[in-house]
Amino acid sequence: MPFGSFYPMREVIPLIYHYYLLRDEHRLLGFRDAIRALVRPGDRVLELGAGTGILSFFAAQQGARVVALELDDYTREAARHFLQINGVASQVELIAADARETIPSGVYDVVICEMMFTGLLQERQVEVLRRTAAQLGGLPERTIPRGATLLVDAGSADFSYASYNAPFVRPYDPKDYRPLTASKVYCEVDFLSLPETDRVMTRVVVDVEESAQINAVRLVTDTLMRSGIRLEASLEYCWPFVFPLANPCPAREGEKILVQLDYSFGDHCLQVKPQVLPWR
Ligand SMILES: C[S@@+](CC[C@H](N)C(=O)[O-])C[C@H]1O[C@@H](n2cnc3c(N)ncnc32)[C@H](O)[C@@H]1O
Repeated sequence: MPFGSFYPMREVIPLIYHYYLLRDEHRLLGFRDAIRALVRPGDRVLELGAGTGILSFFAAQQGARVVALELDDYTREAARHFLQINGVASQVELIAADARETIPSGVYDVVICEMMFTGLLQERQVEVLRRTAAQLGGLPERTIPRGATLLVDAGSADFSYASYNAPFVRPYDPKDYRPLTASKVYCEVDFLSLPETDRVMTRVVVDVEESAQINAVRLVTDTLMRSGIRLEASLEYCWPFVFPLANPCPAREGEKILVQLDYSFGDHCLQVKPQVLPWR
C-alpha cells in the first residue's frame, strides 16, 4: 500500500486507494471469514464505512439485509454500481452519511466497521463505534471486528535517504527497521466495552534483546475478528508504523527499558511522540 500523494485523510478514503484495500487478500479473507461465520440469513446488518461495498456484499451473500453508510460521494456511487453488477443491490441500502453524526435507527444483529489503523490512530474506528453504541444502546455481540491488540517494540531505524537524514513517522519496512526489544502489548481494546476515554497514556517495560542505540519505536496492531480469531497486522493491512525518538537511548542486551506513549485514538500519526527511558 503506497503512502503517496493519495494517502487517506483521516475520514474519507478516496476511491483510488480502495484498490489497495481490495487486492489485500489477507484483509479481505479475514473479514469474509468472520462475516461468513457470524452473519445468518435474515440478519439486519449495519456497515459503517462501506467503501466499495465488498463487506456488505459478503453479508448479502449470507442472506442478510444491509444498511451501509459511506461518506465519500465517488466511492459510494462506485459501490452502488458494484453492488448492482454483483447482484445484491436489492439487499443493500447505501446511505450518504457521516457515521460520526448519523446512525440510522433500527435493530441490527451485526455491525461491521473497518476503519482500522495502526494504534487506532488516523481513522475513526473508536469514535464511530462509540457513537453507534450510544445511538443504538450498545453494540451487538456480533460486531466485526470485535477489538484490537496494540503492541510496541523499540529498535533501530534508518531514517536516511541518499545520506539525507529525515527522521519522521513512517510505515514499517523490514529493510530499515530492526527491533532491538521484545514486543509488548500496551493496550487491549474491546469494541463492545470501549474505555471511557480515547487517551492512551501508558508506560511499558520491555526487555532489550540486542545492544545498540534505540532511536525509534514501532507500533503494531492486530485485529480481533471474533472470539479467538485474530487478523495480524501485515505490510498491507494495518501496516505497522515506526516513530522516531526525539532522544535516542543506548541499550544493552539483558537490560530493560521503559517505553512511554501518550496519544488519543483517532490522532494523526504526527501527534505521537514516544519516549524511551532507561528502567531501573
Ligand atoms: C478502510 S475503508 C473500508 C472500506 C470497506 N468497508 C472495505 O472493507 O473495503 C473505510 C471507509 O470508511 C469511510 N469512512 C470514513 N469515515 C467515515 C464516516 N465518518 N462515515 C462514513 N464513512 C466513513 C471511508 O471513506 C472508507 O471508504
